Amino acid sequence: MSTQVVRVGMIGLGTVGTGVVKILQQRAEMLAHQLGARIEIGGVAVRDTGKLRDVALPNGVVTNDPASLVRRGDLDIVIELMGGTSDAKRHVLDAIEHGKHIVTANKALIALEGRDVFAAAYRKGVGVYLEASVAGGIPIIKALHEGLAANEIEGIYGILNGTCNYILTQMTEHGQPFADALADAQRLGYAEADPTFDVDGFDTAHKIAILSSLAYGFNVNIEEVYVEGIRRIGTADIQYAHELGYTMKLLAISKRKGGSLNIRVHPVLVPESSVLANVKGAFNAVAVIGDAVGPTLFYGKGAGMMPTASAVVADLLDAARTVVSKAPAEIPVCYHPERAITVPIESMDSTVSRYYLRLQVLDQPGVLAEITAILGRHEISVAAIIQKEPHCEGSVPLVLLTHDAMEKSLQSARREIDALDCMRDESVCIRVETDV
Ligand code: NAP
Ligand code: HSE
Repeated sequence: MSTQVVRVGMIGLGTVGTGVVKILQQRAEMLAHQLGARIEIGGVAVRDTGKLRDVALPNGVVTNDPASLVRRGDLDIVIELMGGTSDAKRHVLDAIEHGKHIVTANKALIALEGRDVFAAAYRKGVGVYLEASVAGGIPIIKALHEGLAANEIEGIYGILNGTCNYILTQMTEHGQPFADALADAQRLGYAEADPTFDVDGFDTAHKIAILSSLAYGFNVNIEEVYVEGIRRIGTADIQYAHELGYTMKLLAISKRKGGSLNIRVHPVLVPESSVLANVKGAFNAVAVIGDAVGPTLFYGKGAGMMPTASAVVADLLDAARTVVSKAPAEIPVCYHPERAITVPIESMDSTVSRYYLRLQVLDQPGVLAEITAILGRHEISVAAIIQKEPHCEGSVPLVLLTHDAMEKSLQSARREIDALDCMRDESVCIRVETDV
């Protein structure tokens, strides 16, 4: 057995960091055999060194000083598992400046600051490894970068947030209220430190921006990605969707048509028979369509301690191989400081979709005619309508499914409908995706 040692520093010993230490301790022999060198945890930075931990580390390894950790001359690799962007960016850039390879699970950091991080890595000749940043344990970054490299990627559909998928599954299958399901997702270690990133769709947006950049080889500006979360989804909409044969999901959709990109994150109704409708709980799924390979599907646990640690340790092995071989690290073209080009994303207004509309209206003659007249003026054709019995003060929920319509027309019609005297609440609008 080789006596070479690759020494690692880690910032963060929370959900994911704990899983990483567990794997490194339990699989030490197997990993050393694969690598031909031993991986040693030289230091771990946390906020609170007094906190009880699930893993035991030798005395002196745990510190509350990440700034000093990343500068240590005896470390080859820094694993960033603290989350957030400003402090994480500072420590990562400092680690790179001190010649460390970086492994990170931080999608916000890569989506928002990826160009700066990779530019610094390029200057110093070190690698940045990010498998765990998207879809937890699913090796989707490697798949795009290596296995599908021969393809021009035409589109990606992803259930990319375990927290939201868990919440929607609990609401659909057990009628659990949103807030209770979110609290469970937090307890199970799926949610971000600030769970608004999950439920408002930003975490999914960070992930689809990363996947799209790697898939198309263009840099995607996250600010241009349309984002809508699941906060306004109620159990009533889930139930009506079911009556129409659909399941509610938070979906990331990314399509490339020639030089233009359509990238968005929002709740969608997918047919109950579709593969994505059957991705439940904290599982993620990513469908990637390549011009040569056709449709492919990747499925697995997208959040939680051990699935995410699985991806981090896989990256750690890649980084350690680079340390052992002294091979030059590779910079993906989408983040390359000299070769990356940024391609604008189409405005949401020009997106075409089918729509589910729920309108809480007065139960009186002429209401349906008023509403369909507005839709007709905007060239929106109705595919199905359900009207329920009154259950509160003479108002009824009216549920409509449209045929394909342009987003701009739909939203103009919706504003006119919302202004009608017969409306008792703001309309609910959910896009319907049947191509999945
Ligand atoms: P977490 O449980 O909140 O753990 C964060 C860790 O970072 C804690 O150990 C904390 O220290 C430490 N930390 C935070 N700020 C620090 C600072 N200023 N200095 C030193 N240490 C600091 O978070 P997590 O769920 O493991 O997530 C970590 C990263 O992985 C995030 O970027 C997240 O987006 C990403 N990720 C998470 C999952 C998941 O399922 N949880 C999946 C994929 C990716 P204390 O322990 O002392 O508080
Ligand atoms: N909060 C994220 C999720 C963690 O729920 O998917 C995995 O990136």
